[in-house]
Amino acid sequence: MARFTLPRDLYHGKGALETLKTLKGRRAMVCVGGGSMKRFGFLDRAVAYLKEAGMEVELFEGIEADPSVDTVMRGAEAMLKFQPDWIVAMGGGSPIDAAKAMWIKYEYPDITFEDMCKVFGIPELRKKAHFCAIPSTSGTATEVTAFSIITDYQKGIKYPIADFEITPDIAIVDPELAETMPKKLVAHTGMDAMTHAIEAYVSTANCDFTDPLAIHAIEMIQKDLIPSYNGDMAARDKMHNAQCLAGQAFSNALLGIVHSMAHKTGAAFADYGAHIIHGAANAMYLPKVIAFNAKDPTAKKRYGVIADYMHLGGKNDDEKVALLIKFLRGMNDQLNIPHCIKHYGADSYPCEQGFVPEDVFLSRLHDIAVNAIGDACTGSNPRQPSVEEMEKLLKCCYYDTEVDF
Ligand SMILES: NC(=O)c1ccc[n+]([C@@H]2O[C@H](COP(=O)([O-])OP(=O)(O)OC[C@H]3O[C@@H](n4cnc5c(N)ncnc54)[C@H](O)[C@@H]3O)[C@@H](O)[C@H]2O)c1
Ligand SMILES: [Zn+2]
Repeated sequence: MARFTLPRDLYHGKGALETLKTLKGRRAMVCVGGGSMKRFGFLDRAVAYLKEAGMEVELFEGIEADPSVDTVMRGAEAMLKFQPDWIVAMGGGSPIDAAKAMWIKYEYPDITFEDMCKVFGIPELRKKAHFCAIPSTSGTATEVTAFSIITDYQKGIKYPIADFEITPDIAIVDPELAETMPKKLVAHTGMDAMTHAIEAYVSTANCDFTDPLAIHAIEMIQKDLIPSYNGDMAARDKMHNAQCLAGQAFSNALLGIVHSMAHKTGAAFADYGAHIIHGAANAMYLPKVIAFNAKDPTAKKRYGVIADYMHLGGKNDDEKVALLIKFLRGMNDQLNIPHCIKHYGADSYPCEQGFVPEDVFLSRLHDIAVNAIGDACTGSNPRQPSVEEMEKLLKCCYYDTEVDF
């Protein structure tokens, strides 16, 4: 038996933000990030709508990118004081993910972060509050997913919390919020969405319910991401839907080792002054992982189907896989994303020598490989790598060398 879970309601299209007027409750806690929602007027509008619904509103502001365990604990404390019956999280994946984890801690104040990270081990929520998510980036799809990614900065590791309990009750997918994204954010979040769709399609947990969502998302992202990056706002609006479809697929079909590797490398070199941004990490690792996974016959066939839907040509599955890899690398070039960690600059753009020194990478390689294998996303990958294979794969992602094993 398998389970397919999505939010109870999904409001989409321009102006969908107004749905907040219809929520029923007494107190809403609005969780936002560093300021973009305020700057562009969306936060004021959301607060006004919630007040129109008769609710008392309190803000939890300043949730950082790649949110920390500390932030989650502070937010839960604020919720325990204010006692909201609605949590409204607005912004990129970071504030929405943080608010999901705060929600768990608010409902169960004694729960530890370690307990939260037990896959599909979250106790029943919604005894105190319901959850509404409003994305302003077009990538993570956390507004429809059963996941939240929280970083433990002491360990330098991103931990996925995974349980359908944290799938939001309401998702508001209003493309207006994504129109203010700077180019770099469009590129990274867009390739995150592409990775979600491709990993979901080849995941061992794929099914008839998730396949059409994944395939349609891939077709849309192929068509719309580059124009969106180059300023076409109709394409930008489409990307907001496409990423949400990809999220609906992967929340139910799960992901694979591109995400395991992105989670375990993202903050691993933070002491060298930068992060490897989630979407950029995925964009760099995806072509390498496709080459690795394609040694599995079922996965190879499925990559072939993806290539067919993308009209990439190719006479057999080997050619189709090669063309898919070539196409994705071409997308990275057009989006100004490097192909490997060695050339990943502190500003995320391609450069001769990136911010991760080779000796530091090699000295941490073994631990990162072990952690990546232990990541919650590894179990549904079509091929289970050994530690040695994972190390080799990560090396290919550092040097941009061919995957031939
Ligand atoms: N929960 C999931 O299922 C899931 C899936 C993939 C990734 N993630 C996680 O999500 C996080 C990344 O989220 P993200 O890529 O959405 O970025 P983000 O939330 O970290 O935001 C990045 C930056 O973009 C700004 N920003 C957001 N929306 C904007 C807008 N419309 N206009 C201008 N600026 C805007 C933010 O203020 C921030 O500075 C990572 O921690 C990643 O691990 C979660
Ligand atoms: Zn992702």
